[in-house]
Amino acid sequence: MSVDAIHSAEDARLIAKRRLPWMVFDYIDGSAGRETGAVRNRAALDSITLQPRILRDVSSRNLSVPLFGTHAARPFGIAPMGMCNLSAPGADLMLARLAAQYKVPHGVSTVSSTPLEQIIEVANGHAWFQLYFSGDGDGTFKLVERAKAAGYTTLVLTVDVPEVGRRPRELRHGFKMPFSIGPRQFFDFALHPRWSLTQLAAGKPRMANFEMDGYNFDRIESRAKATWGTLARLRDMWPGKLVVKGVLDVEDASELKKAGVDGIQVSSHGARQLESAPTPIEMLVKIRAEVGSDFPLFFDSGIRSGEDVLRALHQGADFVFLGRILQFAIAAGGEPGLHRLWTILSDEMSIAMAQTGQTMLGKKPVHSFG
Ligand code: FNR
Repeated sequence: MSVDAIHSAEDARLIAKRRLPWMVFDYIDGSAGRETGAVRNRAALDSITLQPRILRDVSSRNLSVPLFGTHAARPFGIAPMGMCNLSAPGADLMLARLAAQYKVPHGVSTVSSTPLEQIIEVANGHAWFQLYFSGDGDGTFKLVERAKAAGYTTLVLTVDVPEVGRRPRELRHGFKMPFSIGPRQFFDFALHPRWSLTQLAAGKPRMANFEMDGYNFDRIESRAKATWGTLARLRDMWPGKLVVKGVLDVEDASELKKAGVDGIQVSSHGARQLESAPTPIEMLVKIRAEVGSDFPLFFDSGIRSGEDVLRALHQGADFVFLGRILQFAIAAGGEPGLHRLWTILSDEMSIAMAQTGQTMLGKKPVHSFG
């Protein structure tokens, strides 16, 4: 297949669905519970209208935005995702090269499938380290020191996983890290030989940050012991930018600002955690009103097009992160597939900017829900 068959994020998803073993596709695509959270967020995004404007010279348009003292060439970056190399061998480094090229942040997961040191090097510094607090926190703080030593200057603390959400689609296939391959998985892999053979040649994907002494991580271990005290300790030990990801409450946002964090990422973890959480795109408007227009506010969850990015920016986000769709683009077409989707998203945004009379991105009046 040529990547020319990809014309939208949904095209990439459908091709990925054919290519990936069910277990891997459903791990990436699945959401919590009955998946109504994802549906509600999609409906809320779809209800946001962008106002067409006419007869303003929009022939030259700029998609770059300021971000923590630098300029990102796009208003969207790469959300941290664990075990990306499941979508294809080398996926983490494809994302890192993309981040370097567009000077956008690559969120590097605590459970990345490539060591955090290698990713920031390939990303040419455009990488933010995402931290999960885990167990009693010992390994967590060691990981922070390691990220600092590797040259990371932005730390993203993910706070919406006190316990890993139940995602029935992934549970049904027996998804586990590290992998265990029983008869069911064997059958699944046998039916997807292209994926299985490339993975076999590359070696099993691994939780690469945990192969050194003293760094243990159990994907499903409770992360419930984290408190505001944990955040204060992190703030004390981390000299760089500190972002808290997975915030959906106005009061929490206000407390985080008081606690001295440098940015907040409004997110429902792509609807993978609390099924009945309020929709992140609606909370974004409320949180923006609370923290004021100058406080760095980021958004992810459910972004599927360049127009979605513009919608989120209009609702008050300074920068937006993309999750699943990037992995689907890689599964569908490798690195060319990823670049193809990235170009599509950029074109969709640029065209929508022209249609709405904008040549630059910046603070916009908030549009209401239709
Ligand atoms: C994630 N996400 C995530 N977040 C995080 O902070 N650390 C992590 O390790 C992971 N791992 C992860 C794996 C997979 C397969 C997915 C799909 C997501 C959540 C991610 O950062 C982001 O919040 C959502 O993916 C955004 O929603 P969309 O764009 O996928 O709809």
